[in-house]
Amino acid sequence: MTARTVLITGGNRGIGYSMAEEFLAAGHRVAVTARSGSGPEGALTVHADVTDPSTIDQAFTVVEDKLGPVEVVVANAGITRDTLLMRMSDDDFTEVVDTNLTGAFRVVKRASKGFLRQRFGRIILVSSVVGLYGGAGQANYAASKAGLVGLARSITRELGARGITANVIAPGFIETDMTAELPAEQQAAYKKAIPAGRFATSQEVARVAVWLAGDDAGYISGAVIPVDGGLGMGH
Ligand SMILES: NC(=O)c1ccc[n+]([C@@H]2O[C@H](COP(=O)([O-])OP(=O)(O)OC[C@H]3O[C@@H](n4cnc5c(N)ncnc54)[C@H](OP(=O)(O)O)[C@@H]3O)[C@@H](O)[C@H]2O)c1
Repeated sequence: MTARTVLITGGNRGIGYSMAEEFLAAGHRVAVTARSGSGPEGALTVHADVTDPSTIDQAFTVVEDKLGPVEVVVANAGITRDTLLMRMSDDDFTEVVDTNLTGAFRVVKRASKGFLRQRFGRIILVSSVVGLYGGAGQANYAASKAGLVGLARSITRELGARGITANVIAPGFIETDMTAELPAEQQAAYKKAIPAGRFATSQEVARVAVWLAGDDAGYISGAVIPVDGGLGMGH
């Protein structure tokens, strides 16, 4: 296992926090971005808001100074603003796209500078089963998450020959603050529809990210890896 410098956005809670723990456990140097709070012990926490390019640049500079050039970037930060199409405002739509899709673009673009110099880089974008499956009341979120697939695949074509891979993880329902907000009946209905019959733990998603960043995944790029208990099969 080659130890890498890893930067994860939104690492103060949920899936990003678990990713930081799992990357640390695997022996990597780990930094997380946070708007508030911090990542797990052992990770460097830097401030960044993915809707603000200057904070992203500053965060990378701090990580590069303290841990060395970033070699693995995980664009994990994301939000939902669920509501039915007819009630969805322009702001509901653009805020979600600005955070989930444009935010990932900003982070990846900043990371790619160093990746090109190093002729090595691993880009991991956290999408969702909803990106390809769709979700009623989630036109904004699904559009932003589907966009990540086009982003990863275009990067793969553009930078694939420079030792850079770009892959998408598409989680299904994971036990985090995001799913805890769902009404109990909706949670029960989702569990019925999931072949595995349960939500995943955030560790089950995090370990896939660690594997994608590892030596064994060097020839995997442009892939969408579902971690959804079978919910999105065929999409
Ligand atoms: N939970 C699920 O079932 C599920 C399923 C599929 C995909 N996903 C995706 O997995 C990723 C993580 O989700 P989660 O469930 O862990 O969500 P979460 O518990 O709500 O955490 C979201 C993280 O994103 C950060 N974030 C949000 N907006 C940001 C911004 N503008 N700049 C920087 N950071 C920002 C949050 O920071 P603050 O604490 O500062 O708000 C937080 O750290 C998201 O992209 C989500 O869409 C989740």
